Amino acid sequence: MAISIMLQNTPPISPNKHKCIWFIIALAVILILFGVAITIFFTSWVRLVIDHEIVLRGNSDTFRWWSKPPVVPVLKVYIYNVTNADEFLNNGSKPIVEELGPYVYNEDWEKVNIKFNDNGTVSFNQRKIYVFDEEASYGSEDDVVVVPNIPMLSATSQSKHAARFLRLAMASIMDILKIKPFVEVSVGQLLWGYEDPLLKLAKDVVPKEQKLPYEEFGLMYGKNGTSNDVVTVFTGANDITKFGLIDTYNGNTHLPHWRTDACNALNGSDGSLFPPHMTKDTTLYIYDKDLCRLLPLKYLKTVNTKDDVLGYRFTPPQNVFASVDKEPENMCFCPHGPPCAPNGLFNVSLCQYDSPIMISFPHFYLADDSLRTAFEGISPADPEKHMLYLDVQPEMGTALSAKARVQINLAVSQVIDIKQVASFPDIVFPIMWFEEGISGLPKEVTNLLNLATIAPPIARTSLMIGFYIIGSLLLIVAVWRLVKAAHAHSTLRLNTPQYNIPPVNGNSKSADNNLQLNTITK
Ligand SMILES: *[C@@H]1O[C@H](CO)[C@@H](O)[C@H](O)[C@H]1NC(C)=O
Ligand SMILES: *[C@@H]1O[C@H](CO)[C@@H](O)[C@H](O)[C@H]1NC(C)=O
Ligand SMILES: *[C@@H]1O[C@H](CO)[C@@H](O)[C@H](O)[C@H]1NC(C)=O
Ligand SMILES: *[C@@H]1O[C@H](CO)[C@@H](O)[C@H](O)[C@H]1NC(C)=O
Ligand SMILES: *[C@@H]1O[C@H](CO)[C@@H](O)[C@H](O)[C@H]1NC(C)=O
Ligand SMILES: *[C@@H]1O[C@H](CO)[C@@H](O)[C@H](O)[C@H]1NC(C)=O
Repeated sequence: MAISIMLQNTPPISPNKHKCIWFIIALAVILILFGVAITIFFTSWVRLVIDHEIVLRGNSDTFRWWSKPPVVPVLKVYIYNVTNADEFLNNGSKPIVEELGPYVYNEDWEKVNIKFNDNGTVSFNQRKIYVFDEEASYGSEDDVVVVPNIPMLSATSQSKHAARFLRLAMASIMDILKIKPFVEVSVGQLLWGYEDPLLKLAKDVVPKEQKLPYEEFGLMYGKNGTSNDVVTVFTGANDITKFGLIDTYNGNTHLPHWRTDACNALNGSDGSLFPPHMTKDTTLYIYDKDLCRLLPLKYLKTVNTKDDVLGYRFTPPQNVFASVDKEPENMCFCPHGPPCAPNGLFNVSLCQYDSPIMISFPHFYLADDSLRTAFEGISPADPEKHMLYLDVQPEMGTALSAKARVQINLAVSQVIDIKQVASFPDIVFPIMWFEEGISGLPKEVTNLLNLATIAPPIARTSLMIGFYIIGSLLLIVAVWRLVKAAHAHSTLRLNTPQYNIPPVNGNSKSADNNLQLNTITK
């Protein structure tokens, strides 16, 4: 009886209050929908923002960092000094080399003659200045080393298939010019150029169109300064998936040297910027002129670089320079073979004026061990020291650090007719290896990278949790109230016959009426 009396006394929820509850429910649903929207779309929104921000355009941050990288790349050169040249030539001894280095150069990179094109590309010339850092080096640039005479051995190796009288003529010229199979030069000369009698001769006598472009020889000859090569890369404005990739190199979209379009492709990065949003399955491509091809790089591991920026480490796959019997796909890089390059070597002769230059990784890393053990003094390759790698921030596609490590070898062919080199056997002779390293982006850049990559997931999670929790709480409270109200209504209807019974309890109009009611009903 008491119950019905109380019920009678409870007025139905006022229309205003009702409205209020529905409003809260609507609000809750909207909040939850926001939560859902954030769950689903936030990542793509962030992507859109990143994609928009990184595009190369005048005065954007990426443009500034790209055009004049705020880093000091360091070139470290290691030279294989031949210590038993005479015994090797006269007595057939195993060649002994002594690895000398590092000889350290600090680099300053800048892109010059930058010109934006209408089609979402930008053209430039790369400028690199090298300054010797004696403090950090093993010795001075004047250190004298003994290395194979590359111009001479290139000429003799190339003459292998020429007419015999040409080889004999060559021998007498070399006799007159007193050219020997090994040269004694300073480190500075070997790298930056020394006058070579053979090149000088070639320059003077060979018809103009076949002329070599230089009369000096140096492994880095002409590299100190602004390159003549005009590189055109995609800015990402039209298609972010091509961001940072080469469109044309000196006007060409493909190399002329190899067998297939895929192997001739140039559409890689120059190593600084990569298309954003890469995954562990992404293959990156780098083009370097001296490498004469695109170098593929695959995910190796996730690294925490300095300043806590997470990066993906990419490195060339093990089979990148594999011989064709191990990796038939590499056949496209052997246009005049078989025979093709030995396992672990890459023949860049076509990019080096037909000199028999072969590239490998330092200490013949990933190559057949017999190449290394043909010499005394080359320790087994150590991935830590000799692997080429690149750490990239996967969302933004920015290179964080890199160690580009490459060894230059001369593939000498024995030519009996030329007496000076008659005793120089067929051998792949390592000349030097280098490491071009970039490490430690400035705080300004890493802060932004962190902001752009760590902040969004945190923001997403916080917003999601916030919206879901507030929305759900509001919803629960509101629905609960509504249910109570409905319950009250129905009870009320049940009790309508007793409508006339006068109120006993007059103070039951509080907001907690329903609650009270509920407890009592139970
Ligand atoms: C390189 O080897 C040659 C010949 O053995 C030697 O005379 C020279 O001192 C070595 N160079 C250096 C820098 O050690
Ligand atoms: C030549 O080689 C032999 C064996 O390989 C060695 O015993 C001899 O001492 C060498 N001679 C010279 C001059 O190096
Ligand atoms: C874009 O324009 C540049 C300069 O005119 C040109 O070299 C390049 O081939 C063009 N690229 C494309 C994809 O049209
Ligand atoms: C490179 O050129 C700059 C001047 O442009 C010069 O100061 C520097 O010494 C050169 N470096 C080498 C290694 O020759
Ligand atoms: C680069 O070009 C090759 C062939 O020319 C093509 O197969 C490949 O998909 C291109 N890669 C990119 C990233 O555009
Ligand atoms: C390297 O390539 C050149 C040009 O294709 C070729 O003539 C030469 O025989 C190759 N060398 C080797 C060892 O395959």
